Amino acid sequence: MEKYIINGQKRLSGEIIVSGAKNAALKIFPAAILSDQPCLIKNVPEIEDLARLIEAMKDLGAEITQQKKGEYLVSTKNIKKTEIKPDLAKHLRSSIMLAGPMLARFGEVSLVHPGGCIIGQRPIDLFLEGFQKLGAKMTENGEQYTLKAKKLKGAKIILPKVSVTVTENLMLAATLAEGVTQIKNAAMEPEITALADYLNKNGAKIKGAGTPVITIEGVKSLSAGEFTLIPDRIETGTLTILGLITNSQITIKNCNPEHIENLLYSLNKAGANLEIGNDYITTYLSKLKGTNIVTHEYPGFPTDLQPPFTVLMTQANGLSLIHETIFEGRLFYTDILNQMGANIIMCDPHRVVVMGPTTLQARRLVSPDLRAGITLVLAALVAQGTTILENIYQINRGYENIVSRLQNLGADIKQINE
Ligand code: UD1
Repeated sequence: MEKYIINGQKRLSGEIIVSGAKNAALKIFPAAILSDQPCLIKNVPEIEDLARLIEAMKDLGAEITQQKKGEYLVSTKNIKKTEIKPDLAKHLRSSIMLAGPMLARFGEVSLVHPGGCIIGQRPIDLFLEGFQKLGAKMTENGEQYTLKAKKLKGAKIILPKVSVTVTENLMLAATLAEGVTQIKNAAMEPEITALADYLNKNGAKIKGAGTPVITIEGVKSLSAGEFTLIPDRIETGTLTILGLITNSQITIKNCNPEHIENLLYSLNKAGANLEIGNDYITTYLSKLKGTNIVTHEYPGFPTDLQPPFTVLMTQANGLSLIHETIFEGRLFYTDILNQMGANIIMCDPHRVVVMGPTTLQARRLVSPDLRAGITLVLAALVAQGTTILENIYQINRGYENIVSRLQNLGADIKQINE
């Protein structure tokens, strides 16, 4: 079994380059299904979730080849199957991103309920409802859903809840639908704007991406070409917190600080000493004080940065109220931080109070999910002693070569297989 061995309390220094965004890659690859022409995708992160998605697309008949590090040529001309391989879908929530494009281009798709991080309820009702609004007929056979539509038809869709992947999926499906689709109460994440940019570059007619109302005028076909993924804003934020929690001066390069303004606001309030450029952030030694956050859809405080921010607050002076509003199971990792010596009280599944500062102690730990997993790496890097962290597949799902990149900053971390 693969594990990380981490010796804490080392000062870090140097520069680290942010990878392409996981949550953009997992949408742009499926978007390539909308065109029968090949697409060259650049700045692609080497992460497990994308490797699984590529496996699922290849299983459908797509040809995907790595040209060089971070560059993939995707050709979906020869897709023959319309059933997304169940054992892949079960372990990858993003497999649902294949549904909209498959339905739009081939008029049919079958999938099982997708898996992913266990951070709360992750229903797919809004996807299914949305596809049906666009004219698809759905049948259920056990845990398998089949959606069919000779030609999708534009529709007015109001989302009862703001959802990132539902917004993206419906946008993708509506791109090739007949007529105009309007998505109201749409999510506004930068990855959605990037997806619309990709589609518009290739002939789609999408307006309003990045606002709560997106209008899509369907087109008959799309072309394809080159596209460079935006930098990963969650990795950017996590690395900024890494610099602060280890009291280090590090520079996070090739990032877009504008995409994490809400985190930067909270870090500023906490007293973080940062230098912020157009495409870099440098962290300096900082004396932090407890600061409250409330997670919210973009441009609010991102739920994916809530766990790293919480561990940072274990090192800050005073009280911090952490209010997680998006997922109801996303604070349970705080119990693991308490085992390491943190002083965190859970008020209810959505709120914890962190009392800091506390000295964390190394332990034998198991990574519960992707974002809590990287948070335990941060905790281990500041803890006294040697941490053994298991179930690191969860971390490799979303962070490229994290061990060697942290080693380059001087972190004492290694991976062992035993
Ligand atoms: C995406 C991100 C994930 C991030 C999350 C919230 C990707 C691949 N993942 O996940 O990193 O944590 O946004 O910013 O981009 N919901 C329903 N019915 C549905 C779908 C969702 O009720 O059919 C609910 C969810 O239970 C949740 C809320 O909508 O409470 C928001 O989740 P959503 O934005 O859909 O998250 P994801 O798109 O899965």
